[in-house]
Amino acid sequence: MATIRDVAKLAGVSVATVSRVLNQNGYVNEDTEKRVRKAIEQLNYKPNEVARTLFKKTSKTIGLIVPDISNPFFPELVRAVEDVMNIYDYTVILCNSDEKNEKEKQYIEVLKQKYVDGIILTTTELAMEEVLELDVPVVILDRPSMPAFPSVVADNYGGARLATRHLYDIGCRKIAHIQGPPHVVNAMQRFSGYRDEMQSLGLWDENLIIQGNYQLKQAKEATLQALKEYQVDGIFAGNDAMAVGALKAVQQLGLRVPEDVAIIGYDGIPLTEMTTPELSTISQPIYEMGAIAARILVKQIEGKPLEQIHYMLPVELIERQSTRREKR
Ligand code: RIB
Repeated sequence: MATIRDVAKLAGVSVATVSRVLNQNGYVNEDTEKRVRKAIEQLNYKPNEVARTLFKKTSKTIGLIVPDISNPFFPELVRAVEDVMNIYDYTVILCNSDEKNEKEKQYIEVLKQKYVDGIILTTTELAMEEVLELDVPVVILDRPSMPAFPSVVADNYGGARLATRHLYDIGCRKIAHIQGPPHVVNAMQRFSGYRDEMQSLGLWDENLIIQGNYQLKQAKEATLQALKEYQVDGIFAGNDAMAVGALKAVQQLGLRVPEDVAIIGYDGIPLTEMTTPELSTISQPIYEMGAIAARILVKQIEGKPLEQIHYMLPVELIERQSTRREKR
């Protein structure tokens, strides 16, 4: 494999001149540049990326930190980020934080050492100072945490009100909410939407809050418990995985969905179409969220102005069998 020395020798110039041509910095006269480029072509010389990264302190890579790629919400989000970054010639390094601050901090260190050009964060664990220290452009995605940085989220509060109201409209009056992790901002926004809608309907009862931690299994166990204690006739789950857990719990107790207990989830992942009955959900524009975040990051890396800093995308009610009752 040809080296930079071979190129310099063939072009009859110094290694420093070849390096100036490659990195487009410093003056090189036109004829010399042509000779160097010809030598590069003849020898099929490929510059060593590690060396280039160290020299330029940029790597054409970005970091993407998500809580857990095995949660079915995240693959589509990650795919969108990768698709858009690839268009601009960037590679994406994916990191799973497992919602742990320690892991996030470790990944941040690794990403810094790799001279990533920017980072997309889907997390609420990091403190503002930790992110400010990064010294590269950052975009916050899906989980709003630090207003100081550009962000792309969906309307969590409005979506939760929509879900709760939908259950009311089909006749539910004892509507339980399966909550996501209390430290995750979008989980709390969904909780607030549910609470405010229940209060305005005169139905608020704090006993109807179930902790599901955005986890299918935990939601199932907690729902089994709640259904034994309270006469619930509707469930709004803070994500689709927990809605599947709730469905399993309701069916395990021999109750019918939607006749005895109607269920609606949140996210709009494909899994909701594969259950029996199919699950209603509040659908987030997952792909669009990831794509917009990636575009904003590229603009920041390239030093271009942003037309908008914070994006809040609308969500949509998808009505399926799990809430298809006569409206009252
Ligand atoms: O399902 C996982 C949840 O975490 C989603 O609702 C998404 O918004 C994310 O933050």
